[in-house]
Amino acid sequence: AVFEEEEPVRESLIIAANRLPVSVKRKADGTWDVRPSAGGLVSALLGVRKTYGMTWIGWPGIFIEPGPERDSLTATLRRQNLLPVYLTKSQVELYYNGYCNNVLWSLFHYVPLNFEARLNQETNMTAQWVAYKEANRVFADAIMSVYRDGDIVWAHDYHLMLVPEMLRQDVETMKIGWFLHTPFPSSEIYRMLPMREALLHGCLAADLVGFHTYDYARHFVSATSRILGLEATPDGVETQGGFTRVAAFPIGIDPSRFTAALRTDQVQDHIKELQERFRGRKVMLGVDRLDMIKGIPHKLLAFEKFLIENPEWKDKCCLIQIAVPTRSEVPEYQKLASTVHEIVGRINGRFGSIGSIPIQHLDCSMQFPELCALYSVTDVMLVTSQRDGMNLVSYEFVSCQNKSNAGVLVLSEFAGAAQSIGAGALLVNPHNVTEVAHAIKEALTMPEAEKIERHRSSFSHVSTHTAQAWADTFISELNDTHVEAELRQKR
Ligand code: G6P
Repeated sequence: AVFEEEEPVRESLIIAANRLPVSVKRKADGTWDVRPSAGGLVSALLGVRKTYGMTWIGWPGIFIEPGPERDSLTATLRRQNLLPVYLTKSQVELYYNGYCNNVLWSLFHYVPLNFEARLNQETNMTAQWVAYKEANRVFADAIMSVYRDGDIVWAHDYHLMLVPEMLRQDVETMKIGWFLHTPFPSSEIYRMLPMREALLHGCLAADLVGFHTYDYARHFVSATSRILGLEATPDGVETQGGFTRVAAFPIGIDPSRFTAALRTDQVQDHIKELQERFRGRKVMLGVDRLDMIKGIPHKLLAFEKFLIENPEWKDKCCLIQIAVPTRSEVPEYQKLASTVHEIVGRINGRFGSIGSIPIQHLDCSMQFPELCALYSVTDVMLVTSQRDGMNLVSYEFVSCQNKSNAGVLVLSEFAGAAQSIGAGALLVNPHNVTEVAHAIKEALTMPEAEKIERHRSSFSHVSTHTAQAWADTFISELNDTHVEAELRQKR
């Protein structure tokens, strides 16, 4: 079970996020296979379930018509404290693919709204926006169906920006937090959004609004003052008769999950196999969802440039790129997959030899034990996101390395993680292919003492700034903010 309570609980927490933290498949015998899924949010909140009685509300990622089949899945999930929200095909197309991923995801990562795509779409942004509001209403109703007085409601991400306001209209005194897992862009970018006011009002109804970095929080606060004309301080925003606290809460992972896995025979066996396979070669690794923001083509071009400039490294290193398929119904993502395949083919054709392929590219996700082993044998981890809310892959890599095997992290300065574990990493501008190519060389040839020192610095950050600490801090701040708000109301 994913969310069975293991210890006495302190408070009741309702998490609402677009996706449930599991992937669901129907087995041949009609029962359900429910497995924890990967991803930053899941990895962060998995660590929290021990302290709080938690119900997680979200979309199970599959379509099932109302009826006995749906009821049996709901019952299976409810036993694990998961409450499914069933979206229709049209909601997935308009709300999830359309407004969330085409509009908000792009803009929040500084990709301007794609006018051409909109011209070619059967539906326009207005229909997507209507579906977005509808879907937020479905989530708000699901929250209300389990909410009891005193519960804490924590809504997540750009999918659910209107939920705080919808809940506040139902229960004025509800304790509501909202956290954004992506960047919040500069107000100059944000103000391009046609529905900019409604979304800001939507999340301002929360008591506490959280971001990964101070920059994102600052951008949000200035968007509210420039677009809504509200009085804002670095700590928050004065709303009509109230105050919404805004702050930075950099997320983390549960590093013990990784360090414990590394001690198992299964992972150790994988490590031995990988060491044997890559004997005599340095291993570079990329692990990303196949998403534009991850800068996979940039990484490949930098690696190509590195090979051109340093031909002596040709058979002495390889790049393993795990590209986890995602949102594959969105045309931009399909285009990206072909671009990446084309570059990989070109580089392998040019620099490969019989028995040595420079890039091993896999379009799939990895099983957890294999992933841990891969992180562990990696010499250089490459994270070249063009923009990234945080990037917890970098944290996972750091947690799987140690003093006797201190790999180097090459990290984009545009990932939120650069502001937390940046000191231990080689920070790069991923748009500058030459700079990344040089960083690859620097990482491959770095003196042992420097590697150890850098790893020590990152590891100590990852071990203390955990997912549990992140959630505890957010929730305690939410409680404090809520008490202050109540006092303010009484005055
Ligand atoms: C990001 C978002 C998450 C999302 C994840 C996977 O990390 O912040 O909310 O769940 O990407 O994307 P998907 O669209 O497959 O849920």
